[in-house]
Amino acid sequence: MVSPSTVILGTGAYVPTRVLTNDELSTRLDTTDEWIRTRTGIVERHIASPEEATSDLALNAARVALADAKLSPADIDLLIVATITPDQQIPATACIVQHKLGLATTTTCLDINAACSGFIYAMELASAMISTGRYRHALIIGAEKLSSIVDWQDRTTCVLFGDGAGAAVLGRADGKGTGILGTKLGAFGENADLLQIPRGGSRAPLTEETIGAREHFLKMKGKEIFKIAVRAMDEAARDILEQHGVTADQVACVIPHQANLRIIEAIAQYLELPSERFYVNLDRYGNTSAASIPIALDEARRLGRIKPGDITLLVAFGAGLTYGSALIRW
Ligand code: UT7
Repeated sequence: MVSPSTVILGTGAYVPTRVLTNDELSTRLDTTDEWIRTRTGIVERHIASPEEATSDLALNAARVALADAKLSPADIDLLIVATITPDQQIPATACIVQHKLGLATTTTCLDINAACSGFIYAMELASAMISTGRYRHALIIGAEKLSSIVDWQDRTTCVLFGDGAGAAVLGRADGKGTGILGTKLGAFGENADLLQIPRGGSRAPLTEETIGAREHFLKMKGKEIFKIAVRAMDEAARDILEQHGVTADQVACVIPHQANLRIIEAIAQYLELPSERFYVNLDRYGNTSAASIPIALDEARRLGRIKPGDITLLVAFGAGLTYGSALIRW
């Protein structure tokens, strides 16, 4: 096993206070708690208030991560926000978070759009940038206000998603073998149309007509994605394990993207791991896209599911279609 060059120094998470249950959804949509629970595993999700934007959720998670890392805003020289729900199209949400958090004006600030794989993409990017020796501490955040882009009249999508943010502070490893062992990233751009917002970009700007047709909301071909997701996450997990000479059995905790319990159970089966080895919280948060993995990672750490010496596997899949996996030794 290689000696990692970067390490996770702290994590944090934040979800808005408002909880929206399946039962409440079923009072306004043609759906039931039973359908949502059995098809997805989701029971409730958190929804941001109209005053809260993605940067506000990100800010709260970032503060917790900084405190956990025992660092101050002045220590951060790289900020990456992974999101598909930026506060605005321009500027980058990272710049808004930078200002709210009081980071130095010398901080490199950027957003990345890799949807549910966004946090692992950010981790790879930050690790590579720290490895150059030009950055000391990176703050990486996965944050989403998905309630602002789902069509609340479309029962096939709106019941699945929730709002929230998770963050991590990365720094240089101390050479003792703990840290990010590696990441494996990729994408199937040929399937980009399976999960998209059709209108509102440079190809098809918004018009009154497209707004009337609700084409500025998220559209998903769930069934097709399900199959690709299981295969891609299984392969991404196997590849990263093989690359680092780790067997699935040596992984103490798997943090999968929280989209659907049936996807997680299928991957557990393929990897021949007991499902208890997988950290699952989608029952409480639904699918929070880029925030899903860092929220779960933070919870798993705080609940003692990750102990010193453990190997953790992160694995994700999302719009793009992107995928990613990462191995971390604590
Ligand atoms: O975040 C990363 C990317 N996203 C994913 O990984 C999501 C992957 N896909 C999935 O998780 C699942 O495909 C869904 C949860 C989205 C859908 O589950 P499914 O078992 O694939 O259901 P389906 O789309 O085949 O729909 C089955 C039926 C349909 O009715 P008919 O055509 O059989 O009469 C739907 O209209 O269920 C109906 N349906 C619903 N019924 C009640 C769809 N949504 C609902 C709903 N409540 N909310």
